[in-house]
Amino acid sequence: MGQLWKGRFKKELTKETNDFNSSIKFDSRMFEEDIKGSIAHATMLGATGIIDKSESDKITKGLAEILDDIKSGKLEIDYESEDIHTFVEGELTKRLGQTGKRLHTARSRNDQVALDIRMTLKKEIDIICGKLKGLITVLCDKAEENTDTIMPGYTHLQRAQPITFAHHLSAYCSMLCRDLDRLADVKKRMNVLPLGSCALAGTTYPIDRSQVAELLGFDDISANSLDGVSDRDFCIELASALSIIMVHLSRFSEEIIMWCSWEFKFVELDDAFSTGSSIMPQKKNPDVAELVRGKSGRVFGDLTILLTVMKGIALAYNKDMQEDKEAIFDAVDTVKMCLDAFTPMIATMTVLRDNMRNAAAKGFINATDCADYLVGKGLPFRDAYKATGELVSLCIDKGETLESLPIEKYKKICDLFDDDVYTAINLEKCVNDRTAPGGPSAGNVKEQIEKAREFVNSFQLG
Ligand code: ARG
Repeated sequence: MGQLWKGRFKKELTKETNDFNSSIKFDSRMFEEDIKGSIAHATMLGATGIIDKSESDKITKGLAEILDDIKSGKLEIDYESEDIHTFVEGELTKRLGQTGKRLHTARSRNDQVALDIRMTLKKEIDIICGKLKGLITVLCDKAEENTDTIMPGYTHLQRAQPITFAHHLSAYCSMLCRDLDRLADVKKRMNVLPLGSCALAGTTYPIDRSQVAELLGFDDISANSLDGVSDRDFCIELASALSIIMVHLSRFSEEIIMWCSWEFKFVELDDAFSTGSSIMPQKKNPDVAELVRGKSGRVFGDLTILLTVMKGIALAYNKDMQEDKEAIFDAVDTVKMCLDAFTPMIATMTVLRDNMRNAAAKGFINATDCADYLVGKGLPFRDAYKATGELVSLCIDKGETLESLPIEKYKKICDLFDDDVYTAINLEKCVNDRTAPGGPSAGNVKEQIEKAREFVNSFQLG
């Protein structure tokens, strides 16, 4: 397959240079967007009289046939081509002769590739949002089943205060709802048509960019032709949003991995989402969660690639920018793959409620409530805090818990203590009294779940 730019050259590219220069191995996945973009461009060329309407019709028909033929497998993409744009235009010319050569009027591969990537990524954002919605829904379902499953809440990975498993899951719902919102925001700024910027300086032909934008479902046209072809902010923004999703999935994975350990045993993963060891017969490993945690590194790497490629190149298009596609497509594919593996793993995991409850009972996580009890009896919080600290120290020395320590011992430290302290430090009560908005009480968490569900159901992408 010949290059589009042959005229001024006397020699062929060496095979090695051709391979090095070519992007078709990773841009061929944009064949549909490339062809649809060309159909819109050709339609506009016909409507504005830049080319004859009859020729524009032949081109759009020819392009639609090429699209069908690639999809049905009748036409194979030639991986010797320089890129997908060269391949499609070459195939069109093969089929239509002279007419095919009119397609590239008032267009450059620089604005064409900028268009194709935007179209491809818009589609991918829709797919990722669908998968995120699926995960949030699974988390809401699981949370609903566990609004009274007491577990320790941690800070510094030390048992801190009692919460419920539903409250913990609902935290991830909040994070993932923000992720959805961020993707919608990224898509909004991505939804601007660069076509018509041409190589860098626009064109002398009387093109109608708004018509093309409308045909392809873009909200607006780019304001400046130099920016139109040299902007890859939308890739960087998407890679950032995807990186944040991976931060969330990775933190969640880390927790799953801990919870699966014998030291915690808060959850048990389904066999279908765990693997064994080739030597240790007893092992059941949370590989899916570990891989998701590991793959976050890839996506952060992709973001770094994009930032680094873009940071030092003068306006407008530079070939460096061809590196954008492998990075952003890898980030997109990785996130999709992780969500596909992660969601069913969560949906099928067993929650070991008793183990969570036992862990919550052992770490003095009701100490704040014990101090609050004294505050209720009139003691200033700082004094109540000190008295409770002494109680905890006593319990540790005697191998007791706040629940098992006899009331006489309480009274020795502070005479405001009475038998009702045991009700005040009951874990269920501690959780369900925390009714300030956002807190872990069953009623609050149900509201949080409802809010997440409403957000997912009313979420719309432009
Ligand atoms: N394959 C190129 C890319 O991905 C397409 C644009 C080529 N433009 C050019 N002036 N060589 O960036």
